[in-house]
Amino acid sequence: MELLFLVLSSIIFFFFLLHGINHHRSQKMPPGPAGLPIIGNLLDLGPKPHESLAKLSKKHGPLMTIRLGSITSVVASTPDAAREILQRNDEACSGRIIPDAVTALANHDMAVLWIPANDDWRTIRKALNTYLTHQHKLDTLRDLRQNVVEGMLDFLNESGQKKAHVDIGKLAFAVALNQMSNTCVSQNVTSYESDDIGGFKTAVKTLMEVDGKFNIADIFPVLKPLDPQNIRRQAKAAYDWFDNVTERFICERLKHRESKLPRFGDMLDSLLDYSEANEEDFNFKHIKTLLVDLFLAGTETSSNTTEWAMTELLLNPEMFSRVREEVSTIVGEDGKIQEAKILDLPYLHAVIKETMRLHLSVPLLVPHKTETEVKLDEYVVPRNTQILVNAWAMARDPRYWEKPLVFKPERFLENEIDYKGQHFEFIPFGSGRRMCPGIPLAYRVVSLMVASFVYHYNWELPHAREEMDMNDIFGLTLIRATPLVATPIPVTQVRKA
Ligand code: HEM
Repeated sequence: MELLFLVLSSIIFFFFLLHGINHHRSQKMPPGPAGLPIIGNLLDLGPKPHESLAKLSKKHGPLMTIRLGSITSVVASTPDAAREILQRNDEACSGRIIPDAVTALANHDMAVLWIPANDDWRTIRKALNTYLTHQHKLDTLRDLRQNVVEGMLDFLNESGQKKAHVDIGKLAFAVALNQMSNTCVSQNVTSYESDDIGGFKTAVKTLMEVDGKFNIADIFPVLKPLDPQNIRRQAKAAYDWFDNVTERFICERLKHRESKLPRFGDMLDSLLDYSEANEEDFNFKHIKTLLVDLFLAGTETSSNTTEWAMTELLLNPEMFSRVREEVSTIVGEDGKIQEAKILDLPYLHAVIKETMRLHLSVPLLVPHKTETEVKLDEYVVPRNTQILVNAWAMARDPRYWEKPLVFKPERFLENEIDYKGQHFEFIPFGSGRRMCPGIPLAYRVVSLMVASFVYHYNWELPHAREEMDMNDIFGLTLIRATPLVATPIPVTQVRKA
């Protein structure tokens, strides 16, 4: 009897001991580099945080904790760690931390990019989806997008005649702005002359710059009222400008709709329809804010990708020729590239995917935040922890990619990997509920630009290919450190209608 009691009490003792150990372990945050008092790991990050974090994760593991001032972040650096966050714990990790600069936006509590994934966010995403995920609606505006491309070709033909250098990134940015404005409100908002620094270009550039700038007030919130780097004030001027313009777009459109003239059938019409059907949940303020968000989320990302794709194609003439050959199969009798068929060009698609892999536009995605305490693998991460997903590190990890630093579009012809959030080694648009809703539009805009640049022109670089600067600069998006400049030599003519 005594023996039985002893055995039982030993089992119970060990059970509690083990439970205690596991419980203690499971309460642990992921490991991470030791930081300095007050600033934490700030100095570890340097000017290229995605690269520094990738290096640190080799030592500290796929889930790693870092601290910046009062902000604690968990960083995911492998596809498994990303899946744990964006798929298995998608809901708990779907929050956002609003940067101080963004609070200058009048209705930032309606900004789809920045609000938590709550009911309001769901309504806005639904409103967006009424347009963006419908291929036939995107198809309706194909002619407008074609007009934007023709404007771009006119500019390039003129530049070619003058043997002038063209800043391809700047041009792609202006084109992406016009593609977005045509999608949203059926009109152009900027010209292609590089000295035109009109309202839209300046406002979007300013906001991309200030929203992406390291802001000391974000990591030491007590400094917010002081706005020590003048960031919120700069953001406010640009947001206010946007507010006026989007208000004007909406007022003009409401008048147009009353006049019973034919509908434009663009995104604004879709959003107004949605608002009429869901008056209580989705009003004009939502629409104004959403238009601003779309310009910010969808233009520089698209133009960067285009600029990097052209950089790689100019460095690899055999790939350039292969793209041209493929595009020539979908050129109509009028000499125009048919957007409808562009979606079926496998090599062009592979070039764009490979560009997105090697030159990831948003290397750490948009930071997420835990909405509740959440168990990630064997760790427990408290509520309100920032989550950074280092998609850049995963897209260059030699465990998943053969010769990861080599630009090799063929790899995407040989595998089934897509960017729709299911292959975690390649998530340029994120994954899960906060994934980018603009993929179909982004692909059309980028591929149409790249196809047009390649099909209609030969390009002369002002320097030897080997001298191409491949450095990038970290910000809200990863941009080329040196603009890509080349002279277009027209090889084909587009017949005007
Ligand atoms: C090559 C082009 C693009 C890239 C690389 C890109 C990438 C991304 C990424 C990484 C995110 C964050 C995902 C996350 O937080 O997990 C995002 C969010 C978003 N993108 Fe894109 N994007 C592109 C184009 C576009 C376009 C054309 C639009 C609009 C038509 C758009 C609209 C948005 C919006 C509204 C969000 C916020 C979603 C949310 O927080 O719920 N993007 N994008």
